[in-house]
Amino acid sequence: MRKPIIAANWKMNKTIKESQLFMQKFLFDYTPISCDIVICPPVTALSSVGSIISGSSYSSSIKLGTQNCHWEEKGAYTGEVSLPMLKEFSVNSVIIGHSERRQYFSETNQTVNKKLKAIYSQNLRPIFCIGESLEQREAGNTFTVLSTQLNEGLDDISITSGEDIVIAYEPIWAIGTGNVATPKQIQAVHSFIRETLSVLFSPSIASAIRIQYGGSVKPSNIESIMQLKDVDGALVGGASLEPDDFMSLIQIACKAKEQIRS
Ligand code: 13P
Repeated sequence: MRKPIIAANWKMNKTIKESQLFMQKFLFDYTPISCDIVICPPVTALSSVGSIISGSSYSSSIKLGTQNCHWEEKGAYTGEVSLPMLKEFSVNSVIIGHSERRQYFSETNQTVNKKLKAIYSQNLRPIFCIGESLEQREAGNTFTVLSTQLNEGLDDISITSGEDIVIAYEPIWAIGTGNVATPKQIQAVHSFIRETLSVLFSPSIASAIRIQYGGSVKPSNIESIMQLKDVDGALVGGASLEPDDFMSLIQIACKAKEQIRS
């Protein structure tokens, strides 16, 4: 059974002090649940957030993630951060291919592929983001776009377990807009992603891979999303910035999945 995984992508938000305040409140209210949690702060707050997690009683279920990496281990890449450097903070997961990186920083399926390979060479776990734009959806190209992102991003990559990767489906038109995709749209895409992974890897690996939905997820809409068969969690932007919101989102999400399975 796939364990739900909820990840917070803080994007370029929160100073070290603000990150510490969030974590203190979040952990104070935290009650163990049967979900994996990943917190992805900006690079500057990795150290302090990581220390707070590892000093808590919940380090087995709350993990530290980062939002990007370079594919080389070191070298003349001004402003970049490598995976060996990120590992110094005990990072466990790396968000890769987020649409904001594709849109604003010219990330391509080919650079995503290099980063994924680097992540595996460092024994880390990617949260690999894919998603279509509104124009692509309206032109009827959603599945072609997602198929290309998956096939090119995962080119020449072999994994041995469903635990080795998390896929995040984030339709670009739903990110930060309040326009959450409908349950029908989400299930159709997640099922398509799982079929594609089945061909790329194997049916048994694909059935164990966790697929998150991301895009305007909030405590008020997460329940119906988590009830979907092929949704295994969420990648959360705006609603992960306040500890109360994020905590209630996690609790509703995990409970919805438990109920549907019981
Ligand atoms: P929002 O939840 O703010 O729409 O952001 C989603 C996202 O991009 C998470 O990676």
